[in-house]
Amino acid sequence: MTTASEKTAAPEPFGVYVHWPFCLAKCPYCDFNSHVRHGGIDEARFVGAYLSELRHFAGLAPGRTVTSIFFGGGTPSLMDAGTVAAILDAIAAQWTIDADAEITLEANPTSVEATRFAGYRAAGVNRVSLGVQSLDDEDLKGLGRMHTSDEALAALAVAKDNFDRVSFDLIYARMGQTVPAWRDELARALRHAHDHLSLYQLTIEPGTPFAARHAAGSLTIPRPREAEPFYAVTQELCDAAGLPAYEVSNHARPGAESRHNLLYWRGHDYAGVGAGAHSRITQGGTKHALSTLKSPEAWLAAVEACGHGITEDEGLSRAEAADEYLLMGLRLAEGIDLKRLEAIGGRALKERRLQALAAEGLLARNGDRLTATGSGRLVLDRLILELAA
Ligand SMILES: C[S@@+](CC[C@H](N)C(=O)[O-])C[C@H]1O[C@@H](n2cnc3c(N)ncnc32)[C@H](O)[C@@H]1O
Ligand code: SF4
Repeated sequence: MTTASEKTAAPEPFGVYVHWPFCLAKCPYCDFNSHVRHGGIDEARFVGAYLSELRHFAGLAPGRTVTSIFFGGGTPSLMDAGTVAAILDAIAAQWTIDADAEITLEANPTSVEATRFAGYRAAGVNRVSLGVQSLDDEDLKGLGRMHTSDEALAALAVAKDNFDRVSFDLIYARMGQTVPAWRDELARALRHAHDHLSLYQLTIEPGTPFAARHAAGSLTIPRPREAEPFYAVTQELCDAAGLPAYEVSNHARPGAESRHNLLYWRGHDYAGVGAGAHSRITQGGTKHALSTLKSPEAWLAAVEACGHGITEDEGLSRAEAADEYLLMGLRLAEGIDLKRLEAIGGRALKERRLQALAAEGLLARNGDRLTATGSGRLVLDRLILELAA
């Protein structure tokens, strides 16, 4: 894999997202584009398709320097290390990879998957994000997970031995969970945390088995008001442990924020390859929103027939691009740059609305920076609606 050997000015961020759409089993809460294939997967054929689609995307975004790469899923830790290496080599063949590039792989924390970590490191991965989800074995079963909490902590230890940068995910405000139980669980998790944690409130996604059980009344989770103290405990414990929130659900030691995810929230370009991946690519001054076919087999067939699986390519209007920057940027603790928003959208936000929302304690303004306050981040949807109108 070749990298930019000499760094001059920091390049404009550009990311590559690689979606691996397969899992060993489908978790009942999950609506990600993930599929179970009991008959096995022809991995070599998929590798060929990733290489073709990367070539196609390099034609849409030529000459860029890749500052971050993210293998997400699905379960990318089911990939052979050789597959990851081949994809990284192909990215390096199409673009320049920055010498400091962050290369993350999302992994499920089973013992089998932990045995692959050394191979991923050798392939060039330098950061791992583990889906621990819970440290309570009963709840892990309820979430349909295929690992125990001990197994997850063992995988975390292997990850820390192999990578300088390690994150893990937990889901809170789960079925039947109390605030004191979450406080204990998070305190335990923080004792194992390395430099980054993603802490998501359980969401009932339409069409999932959890949604059916929730509708039937056999699965209860905290209502929005009841979930607020869970969020407050999360901020309190993470702040005290030196991992403040830099985004609604993401916490890091200062400097250890996920550069790839920051790139999404800061509105930079990225190419997404694989089934159901999304991209944002600026061409001729217009930001394009692209997505690929969601079915892995349909995507594979399309790539083999015409070099890519793109099914949508929409040029965003200036107002749409500005709304997207607002929507993503207000999730961040650093907020947005009002001058940049104006440059993207061609118009400024209405001063009276800004002042009214600031008076309600939902927004804070410091020169050209606009941030959502702690209470503002709890009602982000409303903020965006009022600001974008
Ligand atoms: C792409 S997913 C999963 C990655 C990996 N396959 C795993 O399960 O560990 C990324 C993260 O989203 C979170 N997530 C998925 N569905 C969720 C839901 N319905 N509510 C809250 N968090 C969710 C989980 O924490 C998960 O680790
Ligand atoms: S392993 Fe991860 S991506 Fe796969 S179904 Fe479960 S939560 Fe979704």
